[in-house]
Amino acid sequence: MSPSLIVHGGAWDIPDEAVEACKAGCRCALEAGWGVLTRGGHALDAIEAAIIVLEDDPVFDAGYGSHLNLDGQVECDAIVMDGATLRAGSVAGLHRVKNPIRLARAVLEKCPHMMLISEGAERFAAQHGITLCDPQELISSAEREAWLRCSKDSHAAKHHRGHEQGTVGAVALDVRGRLFAATSTGGTCCKLPGRVGDSPLIGCGCYADAETGGVSSTGYGEAIMKVVLAKTAADFLRPAASNPDRAAQAAVQLLAKRGKGTGGLILLDKRGNPGFAFSTPRMAYGYVAPDSTFVTAV
Ligand code: GLY
Repeated sequence: MSPSLIVHGGAWDIPDEAVEACKAGCRCALEAGWGVLTRGGHALDAIEAAIIVLEDDPVFDAGYGSHLNLDGQVECDAIVMDGATLRAGSVAGLHRVKNPIRLARAVLEKCPHMMLISEGAERFAAQHGITLCDPQELISSAEREAWLRCSKDSHAAKHHRGHEQGTVGAVALDVRGRLFAATSTGGTCCKLPGRVGDSPLIGCGCYADAETGGVSSTGYGEAIMKVVLAKTAADFLRPAASNPDRAAQAAVQLLAKRGKGTGGLILLDKRGNPGFAFSTPRMAYGYVAPDSTFVTAV
């Protein structure tokens, strides 16, 4: 089977000055994941490698450089899902984990449960060899400045202009037909402490089913949850004559119509054909074309 990989760096009103950085970040994530897949590696390793690159890049809202909550703290969520077993590893409300996707993977592989939050998730991290960091290490200067502007006034997009960012995600299919999807986020800026959005919720921010395909969503979590966006998109892939882009578009249309929200998603169907759609002004994404060239766009 030919491997396949698609990534995103969020659907939002990406300003012109952030376009090149978003494209470069998606390209680096593709390089990391594709390197694993072309060596015959496991889709789970590929997806973890791709997401770590995106989490470490402060142009995106995940890991280092995530948006700050109302208390001025980073609070991250992540999920990874296995299309063969329908098992997920999901974590939410993390303050001290540099790469939340690593912990999501540990939950998938080593935990009897599918979702852990907050202190319990961080305790599980420490017990499974994931070093906890100082919460301050996750805060970028750009996000601290945006948060200070919001706290002196009230939260407003204009205070984040140029520093507003997007959730990240990836879907990978390896040579042995193993399909995984993943999503990682710092959530919305100036969110209430304890707020959890769509990203770590199975079926909302992420879904993978070897019978249909894998999906990662991005956008306003409170709207995405209403239409269970990722599972909805995966279900649109079920008919034999389905088309990946049309399935993605239909899901995003439903998000607008019934969820009254904007956002986007990436997907691979069960054969590895990529598709994407977004209703925001822009979405950062990248995929590997059939001739193995990297396509990145914003
Ligand atoms: N889609 C990311 C969030 O709303 O938290």
